[in-house]
Amino acid sequence: MSSASVHPRLDPYLEHYAVRARGMVASEIRALFAVAARPEVVSLAGGMPYISALPLDAVGEMAGHLVADRGAVALQYGSGQGDPGLREGICEVMSLEGIRAHPDEVVVTVGSQQALDLLTRIFIDPGDVVLAEGPSYVGALGTFASYEANVVHVAMDDQGLIPTALADALAGLAGAGRRAKFLYTCPSFHNPAGVSLSGPRRAEILGICQRAGLPVIEDNPYGLLGFDGEPSRSLRADDPQVIYLGTFSKTIAPGLRVGWALAPPGVRDKLVLAAESAVLCHSSLAQLLVREYLATQPWREQVKVFRELYRERRDTMLESLAASMPVGCQWTTPGGGFYVWLGLPSGMDAKAMLPRAIAARVAYVPGTGFYADGTGANHLRLSYCFPEPSRIREGVRRLAGVIDAELELQATFGTP
Ligand SMILES: Cc1ncc(COP(=O)(O)O)c(C=O)c1O
Repeated sequence: MSSASVHPRLDPYLEHYAVRARGMVASEIRALFAVAARPEVVSLAGGMPYISALPLDAVGEMAGHLVADRGAVALQYGSGQGDPGLREGICEVMSLEGIRAHPDEVVVTVGSQQALDLLTRIFIDPGDVVLAEGPSYVGALGTFASYEANVVHVAMDDQGLIPTALADALAGLAGAGRRAKFLYTCPSFHNPAGVSLSGPRRAEILGICQRAGLPVIEDNPYGLLGFDGEPSRSLRADDPQVIYLGTFSKTIAPGLRVGWALAPPGVRDKLVLAAESAVLCHSSLAQLLVREYLATQPWREQVKVFRELYRERRDTMLESLAASMPVGCQWTTPGGGFYVWLGLPSGMDAKAMLPRAIAARVAYVPGTGFYADGTGANHLRLSYCFPEPSRIREGVRRLAGVIDAELELQATFGTP
């Protein structure tokens, strides 16, 4: 929470807010993250891309030319659907994951977060059910909460979303006379679970959703950041009804705030109208920067640079965990992306442990943040994307020390 936050009782407008604004509250752990930002703390919490690996001089020169040569367009209003040239570039990027799409099917958004917000606005009335993996991306859960959706989590394992769990969830809803509005899923290099949906399961999940007439939102920010071989085929590549979300936040830079949705015609039309009412149009400058970057910079090689960098950090984290985590901890082995999902010894609560971890100068995100139903206390998310390898080693060592100390407390006083 920022230092300027007002206590609700002192807010003169409290009675005037819409009901949905009641769900908009800062998370309990936000204050701790202000402390975690101190340089002496190794933060394994945030999922910030390592922007210093970009050729900033070349990007800066490109940006300068763009404004000098085409400023009259780059600094002008644009269309609600987004720059057509950029949308062509986006189709080329998506072709790496087997998607064949026309630029007219793409809607540019302010990061994929805005696409999530607009889609939720389009699909969800208060109380409507959204199916989502358990755990799920915290930003999506925040958006679903702000539109008063009722999130029903579907279990995952190390091969991603479990098809029988999805079928059971759908049957349970049908039995109660309800239906879900959509499935929200992040099939490749999941945030926070660090796992990917296996090839056979991709077909199974699509089959279940098709038979149930359930729209699928495939959120895919990390798809190109796999460490082994070619990118997986996206769900959208095999089903044009899937609503696909992409972003340049992880492959170029999040500060540009350029993402997109690829959606069937009806949804696309609503998205353009919703985007226009939210922001009129997106930043022309940011869109043209990305368009120029794709046209003039070696972006495929740059994605490889990021992949290698994150692979080294993933390896460092996995080696450090194996070397120092006490018995009773388990963790996922991400094949790409930014995150490891760590399970604590039974009876341990990651949120209760966080102040002690920060006192030991290491930060993580407690698992409860990734569930809408208060579960997940026994897990935490670790990010390896931003800290240098030596800091990752030190952070994991400190965390292991904190968990060891908790285990000793448990042995002395029993589990709470
Ligand atoms: C799964 C997932 N979806 C969406 C986003 C939002 O990304 P952006 O709005 O920067 O495109 C993130 C960012 O971390 C993410 O991890």
